[in-house]
Amino acid sequence: MERTKKIQWEKIIKKLQEDDPVHGLPHIERVLRCFDLLKKSNQDHFSPILDALEWAVYLHDIGRVNKSLDHGAESVLILNKYYKEEFPEDVNMREEICYAIENHQDFFDLKQRIQNKDKKNLLLSLLILLDCTDVIGEAGINRTTRATKIPLAPECEDLEKEEKIERVKELLNDYTKREEKDREIMKNSSILEHITYNYAFACQVRDCVESYLSDFIKKEIEKRLDFSRKFGTYLLELVIWPRHIVGDSQDTSVFPLKALVSGQYF
Ligand SMILES: [Fe+2]
Repeated sequence: MERTKKIQWEKIIKKLQEDDPVHGLPHIERVLRCFDLLKKSNQDHFSPILDALEWAVYLHDIGRVNKSLDHGAESVLILNKYYKEEFPEDVNMREEICYAIENHQDFFDLKQRIQNKDKKNLLLSLLILLDCTDVIGEAGINRTTRATKIPLAPECEDLEKEEKIERVKELLNDYTKREEKDREIMKNSSILEHITYNYAFACQVRDCVESYLSDFIKKEIEKRLDFSRKFGTYLLELVIWPRHIVGDSQDTSVFPLKALVSGQYF
């Protein structure tokens, strides 16, 4: 994408998505850094679609402005209605870019889509991969812990809490056990579940596109996954043995979350 276009879109994104650390311009900037990592190491392999992928990264979340449940579809609607000049008809692979934006929340059938081996689904898969790389690792944990107002650990009846902890343990040990219905439940229940959900989701997406990635980007994803897993495991230990770690207090909100996020504990 041309430099002038980038500046133009950064301004539009700032206006529409604002400085929201989770889904605003800071998120787009982080995803763009992931895009650069991918570009650096996979240039030859992806050169026909790299420019389209950069467009998709810039534009994929603008539909969040309307708080629509399907913000991917909303992004495409907004682009076609209000930004024909900024996202003109002659952009290379425009149709495929819209397809990727529209479907970027839809990753449950990613494995089947990628089997088609067409440019359209490869573009979609890479957009999902880059987007989800931002929910894991240090930046992902920061994003989750800073922006969410949900409790650190599951808050509910004892038995239900035990069930949830079991679910988290299971997912950290075997992410393939994640089911579609978990999404909203886990993301809205507690930070621990949110992190676990993101970890399992990112593992699944990585597996779908692994054969297309160079060792460089794979290593980066592994590093981030490892951080998320360690963080999730640590939180889980805190929930299971809070006395052991935070003294007599059963209140798991008292431990130094900031130090954990910075990796001081592992
Ligand atoms: Fe995104």
